[in-house]
Amino acid sequence: MSAQLFIWTAFAVLISAYLLRPKRTPFPIVNKYPNDFLGRRAAREAQENARKLITEGLAKHQGPIAINLLHGQKIILPASLAGWVKSNKDLDHKQLVKDDYFAGIPGFEAQSVLHGDDETPKRLIITKLGQNDSTMGVMNESLARGFRALWGDDTEWHAINWHQDTGGIIARAASSVFVGPELADDGNWLGLVQGYVTSYFMAVYDLHAYPAWTRSIVHWFLPNAKACRKTVPQVRAIVNDVLRKRQDEVDQAKREGKSAPEYNDALAWAQAASKGNIEPGDLQLSLAMAAFFTTAEMFRAILVDIVRHPELVEPLRKEVWEQISAHGISVAAANNMVLLDSFMKESQRLSSGLVVLERAVLKDTALPDGRILPRGSQIMVDSTNIWDSNTYPNPDQFDGYRFLRKREAGDTTSQFVQTSQDFHVFGGGRHICPGRFFASNELKLALAHILLKYDIRFAEGCDPKPIMNGFYAMVDPTVRLEVKRRMDGAAEGILGERS
Ligand code: HEM
Repeated sequence: MSAQLFIWTAFAVLISAYLLRPKRTPFPIVNKYPNDFLGRRAAREAQENARKLITEGLAKHQGPIAINLLHGQKIILPASLAGWVKSNKDLDHKQLVKDDYFAGIPGFEAQSVLHGDDETPKRLIITKLGQNDSTMGVMNESLARGFRALWGDDTEWHAINWHQDTGGIIARAASSVFVGPELADDGNWLGLVQGYVTSYFMAVYDLHAYPAWTRSIVHWFLPNAKACRKTVPQVRAIVNDVLRKRQDEVDQAKREGKSAPEYNDALAWAQAASKGNIEPGDLQLSLAMAAFFTTAEMFRAILVDIVRHPELVEPLRKEVWEQISAHGISVAAANNMVLLDSFMKESQRLSSGLVVLERAVLKDTALPDGRILPRGSQIMVDSTNIWDSNTYPNPDQFDGYRFLRKREAGDTTSQFVQTSQDFHVFGGGRHICPGRFFASNELKLALAHILLKYDIRFAEGCDPKPIMNGFYAMVDPTVRLEVKRRMDGAAEGILGERS
């Protein structure tokens, strides 16, 4: 590079860095420290003590606060503004995800597709994945195969691989509906897609450590981002191959005057709905990205609570048995598992993060008190009231019946998939998670298999602790779970299994 070109490039980079610098916030910054010029201490405090920063900051300032991160800033609004945030059209979740999860970077096509301008994926999730009875049987059979392969049939206690053998169950069950029979159990496919989701989230985490203006260059060199770039064409090729074979089958059936085979999975639905505008492999990656990690974490949180509350196992087992006996493997059976529903929601309450309703501010927006949220800033709403004794008596104690009692007392917002004034773990307003019905049904079916077929316990000395990662919570990754197949043999009949 000539010296002149180098000087011009450096000048351009400096100008862009200046233009793209974070805007000054009108709200008190609660993690500002003397001599912390590089913001390292602020970032550490946000990472390690976010709950204290939020609760004390909001109490002290009686209004929005700001928290500085290494390369960005979040404005935290009090929980009382949740309703206002949900209904304000200038506060956008899609833009927030595009910005924070770097849609547009080569290799991150899953994100670009899920939050792109074409709303086909979201429409498909709402209309086809939701309360769709026709997918329940397929998912149930996939769960039977998945448990047999990953948890085994051994009637003696044995350890499972906590992360792989819980995530694997969820990935397989979801894949039976996302990609269909050709690939749902294919080890190579599952490995590729699960690997992509992990690499993608790690690449996003890695990129956040770099200043915003460098990221469009840095990603080319990060191993996790490179892994994503490598996987996308592989996934596209595999999926296009399946689609070609399906087309051949249809053509052959036509030639032979037979009725054409029909496919009941997201691969087929997307072909019909997207009119070729979305690369089918990218859509598969986007579904996996939205569904695998979120649902698997919820699954793990529930499993920990089941082990911790053995007194609830029999009532849950009875309910699952009765509902499947009455309604078969169906949405109706899942909907009628009301104790399980309450148990799942209580697990979700106790394992949730500190904030909800994350939004990007699309234009200068006046808060109800007249103060301005600047365009381009990012907001989140405090959700620590989910552990408030005024809302939930004995809030730190797990109570599997909590939401069932509320429901029986006439509360119409206490089901797992529902959102309410003080419960936004699935978000709210026009961006509320469209996949929550699918996640709920998948979880209930997976838990039915566990309750009817397995006993589970922690390995000796294992005592999982919830882990906070900044604003977010994660289930202890070091859990050691042991399982054994129950001997009564009745599960096969009710779950429709042959052997
Ligand atoms: C237990 C599992 C899940 C949890 C906890 C969860 C949570 C969330 C949350 C918090 C949001 C943001 C909503 C808001 O801020 O208003 C969201 C959005 C979204 N979720 Fe989920 N989700 C789960 C499962 C799924 C599944 C299985 C799918 C797809 C099959 C999915 C697809 C989406 C999509 C597409 C959005 C974006 C909606 C929009 O921007 O309008 N999610 N989810």
